[in-house]
Amino acid sequence: MRLVLATDAQKTERDSFTYSAWGPPLTPPGYAAREQRLRAHPWAHAEMRTWLLCKEAGEVLASCETFRTRSFLRAEDGTRVAGDSFAIASVFTEERLRGRGYATQLMDLLLPELRLAPEAQAALLFSDVGPSIYRRSGYRELSAWNWALAPEPGEPGDLVDRLLGETELDKALARTHPPEQPFLLWPTAAQADWHLERERIYSKELGRPRPEACGATIGSSTALWAMVGKSGVLVLLWLDARTQEDASALLGAARRVAYRAGLSRVEVWEEPGTAPLLARIPGATREPRDGALPMLQPLRPGVLLSESLPIPRVLWV
Ligand SMILES: CC(C)(COP(=O)(O)OP(=O)(O)OC[C@H]1O[C@@H](n2cnc3c(N)ncnc32)[C@H](O)[C@@H]1OP(=O)(O)O)[C@@H](O)C(=O)NCCC(=O)NCCS
Repeated sequence: MRLVLATDAQKTERDSFTYSAWGPPLTPPGYAAREQRLRAHPWAHAEMRTWLLCKEAGEVLASCETFRTRSFLRAEDGTRVAGDSFAIASVFTEERLRGRGYATQLMDLLLPELRLAPEAQAALLFSDVGPSIYRRSGYRELSAWNWALAPEPGEPGDLVDRLLGETELDKALARTHPPEQPFLLWPTAAQADWHLERERIYSKELGRPRPEACGATIGSSTALWAMVGKSGVLVLLWLDARTQEDASALLGAARRVAYRAGLSRVEVWEEPGTAPLLARIPGATREPRDGALPMLQPLRPGVLLSESLPIPRVLWV
């Protein structure tokens, strides 16, 4: 068995198999169009690779994607060293081939490939099938909680300095500063825009209106969000709130944007830094996350993966 990089034709062929897992409610042609469009997005085009576990004769046994994402490691002298981490997505084995260890082999063979990157720091995935399958390949899970808020009526821009449009992601992320962590995953604006591309695609395919803004600022605090069209939810991609008042104002704007877009709820991934702020938002309820369990492993010595590592929703693939 060997691991190979998929050609464009193989990627398209794979879409017809993975439809069963990730296609509905899109039609098969709608899903094929989604995949083409997501692969063509500048971030994916530059950073995504599709891997195939193949028999020697060429038959595909399992597949996945990796996205290179920026990370920072603190060196012994305290300086911050930029490097590459890899987010793994869409691990898939056809139903008739499941239970024979192919997905595990794929994950095991992938690690040495990722370690070849000269600045490799960590591998990250978001499991929808619990932790045990990926623990076998060395990944360890972090706890995963969500906060849910009800949309509410009102003028979205009230009580914040301004709402953000989709061309302002660069500016929005430039306002934030990496916290003091020994290791940190730190997205680019292009990575954030990939979530908006998903929003654009589902909006078109399902005929859902897009939310009127993708974030807001108040003082030196910033929030970014995107619609998950499939479930009709507004998810906070990024919440950098410097005070409790700022957190309330930014989440209030998200709730009003969600209401105007006809969405059913606002969802925020808990991070160590945002948990105390979220706990004090009236009406916010905490629930264990269903799926998207973050799991990580270092790709080089010195990468410390602690429970205090923030994993914002913008890192999800
Ligand atoms: C998950 C998946 C990739 C596993 O592929 P596979 O080749 O059968 O994997 P392996 O044989 O290496 O490992 C199978 C293990 O995964 C577990 N597993 C598979 N699906 C699972 C699920 N939905 N929930 C919990 N565990 C699951 C099996 O129980 C099995 O564990 P066991 O060996 O202890 O019995 C495959 O079931 C699949 O493609 N599912 C649909 C897409 C998907 O959900 N992908 C994962 C996204 S994170």
